[in-house]
Amino acid sequence: MTHLHQPIRVLFVCLGNICRSPLAAGVFRKLVDEAGLSAHFEIDSAGTGPWHVGEPADRRMQHTARQHGVDLSSHVARQLSQEDLARYDYILVMDRENLEDVLRMDREGRFRDKVQLFRTFDPEPGNGEVPDPYYGGARGFEEVYQIVARTARRLLEHLVATHRLREIAGLSR
Ligand code: 4NP
Repeated sequence: MTHLHQPIRVLFVCLGNICRSPLAAGVFRKLVDEAGLSAHFEIDSAGTGPWHVGEPADRRMQHTARQHGVDLSSHVARQLSQEDLARYDYILVMDRENLEDVLRMDREGRFRDKVQLFRTFDPEPGNGEVPDPYYGGARGFEEVYQIVARTARRLLEHLVATHRLREIAGLSR
């Protein structure tokens, strides 16, 4: 497939970049791969905080992801940078604290339109936030998986429609 367009750059953001955003990136990447659309996307994740930089994804998150066929073993946590704000087209944050922190980095509001709560795309958005599972029990991780899986599916549908990816890829509907 000839690739004539810039990829759509999607960045998932949470606090530590060891639980929620690595999962969201892993789940979304799997959906994109399965749809045969990987050439059209650049997908990554980052955390607003510095504490876990260089660490792998949380073992409990990796375990839950693996139960659902999502491999997070190559993830290395990193902190969100100014360059990310410029580079990515969609900056999808897990909760309102992340939203505030990202918008604070965007002093002039140049990137405001790129930043939104990930659960904006959830058909059952609840309070709009993906709960932080870090200090909770194992059920929290499964709950996060279910939210992320459902929301990532809708996000991909939205981006395919918005960017006319089916037509570009020559895929049938
Ligand atoms: P995440 O979860 O933001 O989903 O990666 C957290 C991981 C670590 C911490 C908080 C949340 N922490 O405070 O260390």
